[in-house]
Amino acid sequence: MRFFSAASCTLTIANTVFAAPSKYGLNRTLRFTDNGTFQLAVFNDLHYGEAENLVWGPQQDVNTTRVTNSVLDNEHPQLVVLNGDLITGENTYKHNSTDYINEIVQPLLERDLLWASTYGNHDSDFNLSRHHILKREQTWPNALTRQDVSTSTSGVSNYWLPVYPSSGNPDTPALLLWFFDPRGGNYYQQTSATTGNSVPQPNWVDQTAVDWFTSTRTHLCSQYGRDVPSLAFVHIPVNAMLAFQQSNNDTGVRPHYEPGINDDDPLAQQGYTEGQGDVTSGSTPVSTYNGEDVPFMQALLDTPNLIAVFSGHDHGDDWCFKWDSQLPGMSLKGNGLDLCFGRHSGYGGYGSWVRGSRQILVTEEMVKGGVVETWVRLETGATSGSVVLNGTYGTDYYPAVPDVQE
Ligand SMILES: *[C@@H]1O[C@H](CO)[C@@H](O)[C@H](O)[C@H]1NC(C)=O
Ligand SMILES: *[C@@H]1O[C@H](CO)[C@@H](O)[C@H](O)[C@H]1NC(C)=O
Ligand SMILES: *[C@@H]1O[C@H](CO)[C@@H](O)[C@H](O)[C@H]1NC(C)=O
Ligand SMILES: *[C@@H]1O[C@H](CO)[C@@H](O)[C@H](O)[C@H]1NC(C)=O
Ligand SMILES: *[C@@H]1O[C@H](CO)[C@@H](O)[C@H](O)[C@H]1NC(C)=O
Ligand SMILES: *[C@@H]1O[C@H](CO)[C@@H](O)[C@H](O)[C@H]1NC(C)=O
Ligand SMILES: *[C@@H]1O[C@H](CO)[C@@H](O)[C@H](O)[C@H]1NC(C)=O
Repeated sequence: MRFFSAASCTLTIANTVFAAPSKYGLNRTLRFTDNGTFQLAVFNDLHYGEAENLVWGPQQDVNTTRVTNSVLDNEHPQLVVLNGDLITGENTYKHNSTDYINEIVQPLLERDLLWASTYGNHDSDFNLSRHHILKREQTWPNALTRQDVSTSTSGVSNYWLPVYPSSGNPDTPALLLWFFDPRGGNYYQQTSATTGNSVPQPNWVDQTAVDWFTSTRTHLCSQYGRDVPSLAFVHIPVNAMLAFQQSNNDTGVRPHYEPGINDDDPLAQQGYTEGQGDVTSGSTPVSTYNGEDVPFMQALLDTPNLIAVFSGHDHGDDWCFKWDSQLPGMSLKGNGLDLCFGRHSGYGGYGSWVRGSRQILVTEEMVKGGVVETWVRLETGATSGSVVLNGTYGTDYYPAVPDVQE
């Protein structure tokens, strides 16, 4: 059994104090509500800033803001997660590329909501820097996004947040939230000396971020005297999601047991590089994946009481599955960890599936037992794919999710 596991840590370190800055008049401490609930609204793949010199580009962003407003008129989360690809860096200008952040967070500011971001592969390009996105976000007290690892290869959005109980011991969180940066896209203001092209950045969670994760987890366990239940967010999914999708002769994702759209098949995972081929020599494109995310997946599996991991990136997939076996082609064996996609939230980026936002609802009791309730709130106001990620998820029967395009 993965839950109620005894603390496996032995280190003792001094308590870190998370001061809630009061000068802003906004309490940045995350806390379960008085009725014991905590809800997150996850927006994936907003993709602001496409084709800004054409009429349809800015119109697309107006539409995306409409999605955010519609979702937040129907849901009342304690935290918004912007889970990667906030901006499409390919088309933006260096002099104002992070101005899109102002547009993105406007609906959140209007509602006095706190948010936390992870960055995706489109948040880095020749004219867009994820470091600058972070700086821009941090001009508002509502932003809880941080950079806790600052090596040359770590990426930016690797950090964690505590969620405190509604009552009882105010110093020990009831839930931890982990955020990871899988990087990707192209390096800011760099061109190859030989080709003159942009320079690609690796697209998986870096080893230095994995090392930070495992050591921070151990420190937090000793600080709190137990492995606090947790959830994790990372833009690009791990390879286990592809292995599951492709298992059982490509019918891994079953409409009534892992309800959701499943149109990106095969999906693209961390480490995956699409082959380019060579037109002149007529060579066949060779796509590659070489287990780059194995250390990260191992660290996730080694995290006691980690309940679920939420990703975006593959706009045409929004299912969740319980990773509880050794999947074909994988060296690692799942331990019951739930892995979920969200719904494509933006009008930017490929695909026209009805836009929406994954909602995650927990109570203090639920997280103690490793249970999460989740659904997608669509732009239309309807809900989709509501499931309970509990011990029998994967064997419980649910209505299938209709595959509807806008
Ligand atoms: C913020 O909320 C926390 C938890 O409810 C509370 O302990 C803290 O005193 C509050 N801080 C401020 C500045 O109001
Ligand atoms: C608990 O509180 C939240 C936020 O105040 C609210 O959205 C939710 O509906 C409440 N749930 C119940 C069961 O009362
Ligand atoms: C914006 O949304 C409207 C209404 O759904 C749609 O008809 C239009 O095509 C969208 N425009 C863009 C550029 O996405
Ligand atoms: C980068 O932005 C500058 C203006 O800020 C523009 O002149 C240039 O064309 C852009 N480069 C690319 C590759 O988009
Ligand atoms: C950035 O500047 C260009 C012109 O230089 C303008 O067309 C575009 O709207 C600006 N983008 C933002 C987000 O302000
Ligand atoms: C796998 O699916 C293909 C195509 O639907 C089918 O031809 C083949 O027989 C299946 N193989 C197995 C082992 O079920
Ligand atoms: C898990 O949740 C489903 C849906 O609510 C429910 O039918 C099932 O009995 C639950 N399983 C457990 C072990 O509680």
